[in-house]
Amino acid sequence: MKIEGKIVVVTGGADGIGRGLCDRFHQEKAKAIVVVDIDGAKAAEVARAVGGISFQADVSKEADIIRVVEETEAQVGPIDLFVSNAGIGAPGESFHSVGSASNDVWQHVWEVNLMAHVYAARALLPRMIARGGGYFLNTASAAGLLTQVGSAVYSVTKHAAVAFAESLAITHRDEGIRVSVLCPQAVDTPLLRLAGEGTQNVDGVLSPAEVAACVVEALDRETFLVLPHPQVLGYMQNKTGNYDRWIGGMVKLRRRYDQG
Ligand SMILES: NC(=O)c1ccc[n+]([C@@H]2O[C@H](COP(=O)([O-])OP(=O)(O)OC[C@H]3O[C@@H](n4cnc5c(N)ncnc54)[C@H](O)[C@@H]3O)[C@@H](O)[C@H]2O)c1
Repeated sequence: MKIEGKIVVVTGGADGIGRGLCDRFHQEKAKAIVVVDIDGAKAAEVARAVGGISFQADVSKEADIIRVVEETEAQVGPIDLFVSNAGIGAPGESFHSVGSASNDVWQHVWEVNLMAHVYAARALLPRMIARGGGYFLNTASAAGLLTQVGSAVYSVTKHAAVAFAESLAITHRDEGIRVSVLCPQAVDTPLLRLAGEGTQNVDGVLSPAEVAACVVEALDRETFLVLPHPQVLGYMQNKTGNYDRWIGGMVKLRRRYDQG
């Protein structure tokens, strides 16, 4: 899918990767860019920069996603591409204990990192199918394919996001629905800076603009799996080729992180 002339919604569009996507979609001459974020003021700023519109919305609330879809389609037109990009880490989870996050933290991260994708699909699929198709780009993470050493909550919710994108792609391909899932390693954003010490970015840190360039190319080719760090494919192959050896390798990586 070419971005030129398309109506695009980006959640978590006020900062980081989402902002990078909005900037790049603007360069690609999208017809309209709808910037959605829990931070309404910052979303409005990005919308001004890309000549779009914005909504303050919390993607963990289904009513907010329904409002974004209904108001966008009423004010702007049919959504061609919905990017479920907003995502969060797990505050307070201990690097050293998989059970350390509270039930409330598990629930909230689950709602943002996974349920938001379900809500977007639920709100948009009937509309897109009725008009012959549409595109979902869901931001997961390499943590959704491999794992995030030190965060069970992030890893599990991102695996769920990848699984949901697979279901979406497989179930609705014949109705004209296209799906891509974005799975980067480290990207230079506030989220990464918040994760801070303890994380070593083994394959380098990309800029949001570099990730956005990779996304535009993948959308053009309608590739399901979008890997801005190409090494991730090799890691996936190692994992499926010999799961026990892969777990052993990850244990060694965890020990390296422990030593700082
Ligand atoms: N930065 C990385 O290294 C990295 C790597 C892999 C995957 N990701 C994923 O990329 C996506 C974007 O991450 P980022 O690094 O740009 O993060 P970020 O924190 O820099 O930006 C995320 C944006 O989402 C918004 N947001 C957070 N919760 C929201 C909610 N409930 N409703 C609406 N908006 C909300 C924030 O206000 C912020 O503007 C996330 O899904 C993240 O998990 C990031």
